[in-house]
Amino acid sequence: MTPSGAGWSLRRRLVVALVVLLALVSALVGVVSVLALRASLTDRLDEQLATSISRSLVVVSGSLGPLPTPPQLIVPSAERVLEAPGQAEGTLAAVLVEGRVLSSGYLDTAGTVHALTAGQDAALAAVAADGAAHSLDLGGRMGDYRALVAFDTAPSTGDGLRIVIGLPLANVETTVGQVVLTVAIVAAFGIVLAAVLGARIVRGALRPLQRMAQTASRVAELPLDRGEVALAERIPAADADSRTEVGQVGAAFNNMLDHVAGALGAREASERKVRQFVADASHELRTPLSSIRGYSELTRRSGEQVPADIAHALSRIESESVRMTGLVEDLLLLARLDEGRELARDPVDLGRMIVDAVSDAHATAPTHEWRLESPPDPVMVSGDAPRLHQVVANLLANAAAHTPAGTVVVTNLAVVGGEAVLTVGDDGPGIDPSVRENLFERFARADSSRSRSTGSTGLGLAIVRAVVTAHGGSVSAESTSGETRFTVRIPSVD
Ligand SMILES: Nc1ncnc2c1ncn2[C@@H]1O[C@H](COP(=O)(O)OP(=O)(O)OP(=O)(O)O)[C@@H](O)[C@H]1O
Ligand SMILES: [Mg+2]
Repeated sequence: MTPSGAGWSLRRRLVVALVVLLALVSALVGVVSVLALRASLTDRLDEQLATSISRSLVVVSGSLGPLPTPPQLIVPSAERVLEAPGQAEGTLAAVLVEGRVLSSGYLDTAGTVHALTAGQDAALAAVAADGAAHSLDLGGRMGDYRALVAFDTAPSTGDGLRIVIGLPLANVETTVGQVVLTVAIVAAFGIVLAAVLGARIVRGALRPLQRMAQTASRVAELPLDRGEVALAERIPAADADSRTEVGQVGAAFNNMLDHVAGALGAREASERKVRQFVADASHELRTPLSSIRGYSELTRRSGEQVPADIAHALSRIESESVRMTGLVEDLLLLARLDEGRELARDPVDLGRMIVDAVSDAHATAPTHEWRLESPPDPVMVSGDAPRLHQVVANLLANAAAHTPAGTVVVTNLAVVGGEAVLTVGDDGPGIDPSVRENLFERFARADSSRSRSTGSTGLGLAIVRAVVTAHGGSVSAESTSGETRFTVRIPSVD
């Protein structure tokens, strides 16, 4: 968790923002309403204080009539002021003459008057005679009070008769305290409720996004790079309702998938055309090629004496037409494998096949040393015998063609974990680094004069891979200087 919230899920962010905002608003509303309540309760207390004063004035003047003038004043005791009818409990009074407290006291619950301490007297004596009520802390059990100078004969000098009346703030504070507690509890409950409901609502609102992510992952796993592509994955209509923001993403996602599916379909169609063209062209080339070969062979065998240079030209025509026939056959085979055309599925004994293939290789390249390691029992796979033979022959031909004379070529066959594993290894110079990356691609060959002079085309390993893959197997190559090994794995059958 980082302080800025980076890396938080959107859900968490929204819920945290909601809770924080709600807490701020609750705090603001709570503080403002508590302050307003306190102000209004204090105002009411001040009004009560005013009533209390009018009662005490009755005591001072003996009537409720207009205020008496100073000479007719009676200096009352605080007790008398407090005992005036209707005084509320907790009311306090202090009577001062010339700034000194003559008497003071407060009414308890039972209506009895109790004396005040010297400190409390001093605090009351200090209340300003400005006509406004003042809050003061009397300490001890009395606590906070609201006090007002009710009567002053000499407000400017402060040396006349002065009566201070006070009412306790305890009730106001209790009420305010209760309201604070209630507001805090309601706010806390509201915040918890908002967090829980908010989390649910946000989760519900974001669920379509999760489903979209799952769809996107499924699309990402589809093999879109080759072959016929069925891009059927779509966001369900309910999640692609473009009236909502999330739905707009879903709709855009579906549009994108439609677009990609269309593009892939077009690519597949054009690839199919190219494959079809290569297959047709190769097929069509076979007949004229065999005619060329046939005629050149015929001319060579006719026994007619032809000039040496013409004989040479004829033999070149024959050998090149043989090579071209091979090339055309390879292209045709690759085009057919690309089409995904079914291969034959016959039981094939790889053991016997490699014995034949290695002995053929020995006959064609006697300069190399050919070794064979094969189990005594047949190694059966299900497949197309001529194609599998071509796989082995291509690997052996490579070992013969791309290594110098004297190279030892070891062909090994074994059954490992339900797979027939064929390896062809040689101790030649290794595969040219320029070709290693794309070894199994079409027309991949090292750009050396040797390759060209040997008439290599670079289709051999592409055919190996296509045939092996069509058999449900795999092929790999490892090569360092002095050790090159091709490994072919094909599921074996009992
Ligand atoms: N045993 C090997 N040792 C060294 N290099 C090799 C070996 N086998 C293959 N290569 C390299 O890999 C390249 C590709 O081989 P691939 O069989 O596909 O084509 P090619 O042999 O050149 O032509 P083709 O087989 O079509 O006549 C070769 O040109 C060669 O450079
Ligand atoms: Mg080859």
